[in-house]
Amino acid sequence: MTEPRKLFIKTYGCQMNVYDSERMAEAMGGQGYVETQDPAEADMILLNTCHIREKAAEKVYSELGRYKALKAEKPDLKIGVAGCVAQAEGEEIMRRQPLVDLVVGPQSYHRLPELEAKARSGAKALDTDFPVEDKFEHLKARPKARRGPTAFLTVQEGCDKFCAFCVVPYTRGAEVSRPAPRVLTEARDLVERGVREITLLGQNVNAYHGHDGGLAGLIRELAAIDGLERIRFTTSHPNDMDDALIAAHGEVDKLMPYLHLPVQSGSDRILKRMNRQHTADQYLKLIERLRSVRPDLHMSGDFIVGFPEETEEDFQVTLDLVEAVQYGSAFSFKYSARPGTPAAERPLVDQAEADERLQRLQALLTRQQRALQDAMVGREVGVLFEKAGRMPGQLVGKSDYLHAVHVADAGARIGEIARVKIVESGPNSLRGVLV
Ligand code: 5AD
Ligand code: SF4
Repeated sequence: MTEPRKLFIKTYGCQMNVYDSERMAEAMGGQGYVETQDPAEADMILLNTCHIREKAAEKVYSELGRYKALKAEKPDLKIGVAGCVAQAEGEEIMRRQPLVDLVVGPQSYHRLPELEAKARSGAKALDTDFPVEDKFEHLKARPKARRGPTAFLTVQEGCDKFCAFCVVPYTRGAEVSRPAPRVLTEARDLVERGVREITLLGQNVNAYHGHDGGLAGLIRELAAIDGLERIRFTTSHPNDMDDALIAAHGEVDKLMPYLHLPVQSGSDRILKRMNRQHTADQYLKLIERLRSVRPDLHMSGDFIVGFPEETEEDFQVTLDLVEAVQYGSAFSFKYSARPGTPAAERPLVDQAEADERLQRLQALLTRQQRALQDAMVGREVGVLFEKAGRMPGQLVGKSDYLHAVHVADAGARIGEIARVKIVESGPNSLRGVLV
């Protein structure tokens, strides 16, 4: 019997890339590959890249540089670049880094086995098309192996919103939804394999239209699956938060009380220039409606500071919006110009000022995150245990609100949900005891 070939995948960026990497590893399993965590023993290295911010792409080039010695030692080693940098700069990558044998864009993963064969034959292989077929239907089905209690499931890809700063509409293409029956089949399969919590993924997941009832309709059908205990979804645009989805937050017990709803800025002037198509007030009203049906909802969001033309006043209004919302967690970034996007043509604001704004915003968001976490002390919450902790008998899991929770003498097993009373709040996690 021949030794299986070894595949090392390094994943950058968002949860969708994590999901895609899993599916690619499974597809390559059909080609006789097994996964390895060590690039030095790999026969193929695949970087699943992210193009959302400048640094992400630069990291890919420096990582590729590091494989030069490996390839010199092992000329049969094939190196591939997948993901959004591959989509945006495929040909340039091949020119700039001759080590690369294969480039595959996010919509062509089902063609990976063919591309691998082409690369093995010594040719360069590149595919950055946007084919019409559903890549997930063409990727080999997931094997029936047991797996951990949480999983991502991509239901929607691409985006038609064209925010002025964002590369997603160019790298992932137009909005496409997977039909609900396919999603439900995949979800049932995951549950049979031990999954208790599914996070539905999409670049603009609440625009999902693979079900007549939209994302809310899909969530209600998923909630009827026995054994599936928790449903989450990410990430959403405020304008696609329809009445049905708001109502679901109050009515579907399995839908967890945590919502990632990026706003990017609190200034209407900047929101307009970002082409967000909504105002700060509309966003706040939306959160009010969500909290009226689910008062304990923890909000999460994304912010960009230093967008072209952002003044200190604009930034102050962003801080005001953050104060009004009280986020349970949030991500903030300094604006970086992405080639090909409308905002890339506009002059940057003073970068020292942008750095300083980012620090102030992050300090405020960290304070809020900590305050909401501290407020959990004394409360009872559901915890889904995911793995063993460092201490014997200790388990670590996620609360309904997505906090990491450590429980000593947990008694329950990995994959089970228990009621836990929170007794302590640390910098990044909570400690609790079984009730
Ligand atoms: N510069 C900085 N941050 C960006 N994001 C998207 N594009 C850019 C950019 N050009 C952030 C947004 C988005 C998150 C995924 O990344 O906040 O919601
Ligand atoms: Fe990018 Fe999100 Fe805007 Fe779509 S809605 S363009 S993915 S920031």
